[in-house]
Amino acid sequence: MAKHICPVWMGYFLASGLRKLLHNPTKLIGPYVTPDMTVLDLGCAMGFFSLPMAEAVGPEGKVVCVDVQPRMLAILKRRAARVGLADRIETHVCRKDSIALDDRAGSFDFALAFAVLHEVADQEHTWDELAQLLKPNAHLLLAEPAGHVTEDEVEQSVSIARKHGFVFNKVLLIRWAHAALLTRTVS
Ligand SMILES: C[S@@+](CC[C@H](N)C(=O)[O-])C[C@H]1O[C@@H](n2cnc3c(N)ncnc32)[C@H](O)[C@@H]1O
Repeated sequence: MAKHICPVWMGYFLASGLRKLLHNPTKLIGPYVTPDMTVLDLGCAMGFFSLPMAEAVGPEGKVVCVDVQPRMLAILKRRAARVGLADRIETHVCRKDSIALDDRAGSFDFALAFAVLHEVADQEHTWDELAQLLKPNAHLLLAEPAGHVTEDEVEQSVSIARKHGFVFNKVLLIRWAHAALLTRTVS
């Protein structure tokens, strides 16, 4: 069955400033994203996390923002330009069943997959690609919305991740989410 994809109108809510009361993006990514890093925001939508990550990586860093919906990325680019962060942001339209960034293998220092994995068409393939994209020992923050993704389903995602070269690092306490920090093993 085809997976439900977050509609563009919902993207406006997800990117709204009010959400910061629930998910403070700077605090959530602060421990993992530092200057000069190249980071991946999978399922970035309009950039609720991408823009704070662009601040955190500084002028020499990059945030590669990946989404299946070009419209989300177009709005993200406009938002980034408005706050002077456009030159730290790269956008990439992917496929439902593939991140399709093969030319960037081994180049990411950190990846965020926030509220996206339950929408991807092929988790096995996605985890395999994520493992290829991340540098050894790089962290990945996985979070899924507690409302419609169960803890068991997130555990299943973590087991798939383990098969593809990640280790479970710790549970993260994030409101309204089941979240974990994973680490890419040294292969
Ligand atoms: C619920 S939104 C979460 C957005 C963002 N991560 C946040 O927390 O604000 C999910 C986003 O993932 C995107 N998406 C769905 N399937 C995807 C896939 N296979 N690869 C990349 N992005 C995908 C959707 O277009 C949508 O923008």
